[in-house]
Amino acid sequence: MLIKVPRGWEIPEREATPESVYLRRREVLQGLGFTGLTGLLARKPLSANTGLYPAKRNTKYILDRELTPEAAAIGINNFYEFTLDKQRVKDRVGGFRVDPWTVEVKGLVNNPRKYDFDDLVRRFPLEERLYRFRCVEAWAMAVPWTGFPISALIKEVDPKPKAKFIRMVTAYRPREMPGIRSQPHYPWPYFEALRLDEAMNELSLFVTGIYGKPLPKQNGAPIRLITPWKYGLKSIKSIVKIEFTAKRPPTLWNEVAGMEYGWYSNVNPAKPHPRWSQAREKLIPHMTLVPTLPYNGYEEFVAGMYTGEEF
Ligand code: MTE
Repeated sequence: MLIKVPRGWEIPEREATPESVYLRRREVLQGLGFTGLTGLLARKPLSANTGLYPAKRNTKYILDRELTPEAAAIGINNFYEFTLDKQRVKDRVGGFRVDPWTVEVKGLVNNPRKYDFDDLVRRFPLEERLYRFRCVEAWAMAVPWTGFPISALIKEVDPKPKAKFIRMVTAYRPREMPGIRSQPHYPWPYFEALRLDEAMNELSLFVTGIYGKPLPKQNGAPIRLITPWKYGLKSIKSIVKIEFTAKRPPTLWNEVAGMEYGWYSNVNPAKPHPRWSQAREKLIPHMTLVPTLPYNGYEEFVAGMYTGEEF
């Protein structure tokens, strides 16, 4: 996103815990002889991830380009709650706690629920899908996501007839997400929304893994949205709340800069962003320029849902 923001967002290095240090803290403590703490420090006996990855690939969804190298997809990120610097998100996520994690589903549903992530990830069968991924900033990737269709969860919670939209919200943890404090001008927590028929579309996934492994924090652990025919800003990360509503909920980027970021944000090469063309995209990592396709190449799956204006 290229919205002008004060440069005050840079946080001093001392406030950030590099992930390598964070991840090593257990070894360091054990090395110092804190063996008595083993019970406290050990991972939970049955991790949420045991045996889940890699999930079987669903070969229905094919790519017209090579997969983005894993290092680039997990090393260049947009996650403003940590920093606006794409290459440093991964170094700022160390203090973000993603276990335990609860996803609350509420609003106009017959079965409101609070899912513990460990249960959620086992409840709905996971599959791998190779999808194109197009950011509104005109860079693109091709990524193997692991997740489950949103429709599976929607069926379980059973929306009431009045439910027409779903609203999703990211975790709000200013102490763990340094970008929230350094960019107080954004209306945190991050919020996004889909129409119910968009959410029910077979392409819409709740994603928990990438490259055959659990999602790293910088990519939205433990659970995020992926809607491959829309610009990446729709794909909200680290979701804690899903609410079914009758009225169309606002979305963060549309609220902050409606002229630049549409509510639908369907990928449309013929509709330029006010400040740049959307006709072509740069493939990460070599920035090869290729044409952008209507609905990011997923027209056959989704075009029927929209009027001209919504595209
Ligand atoms: N979700 C939250 N909570 N915060 C963010 O800043 N950025 C969005 C989206 N989801 C964002 C978010 C944007 S602009 C993009 S392009 C994608 O996440 C980037 O996903 P990636 O880092 O996995 O490539």
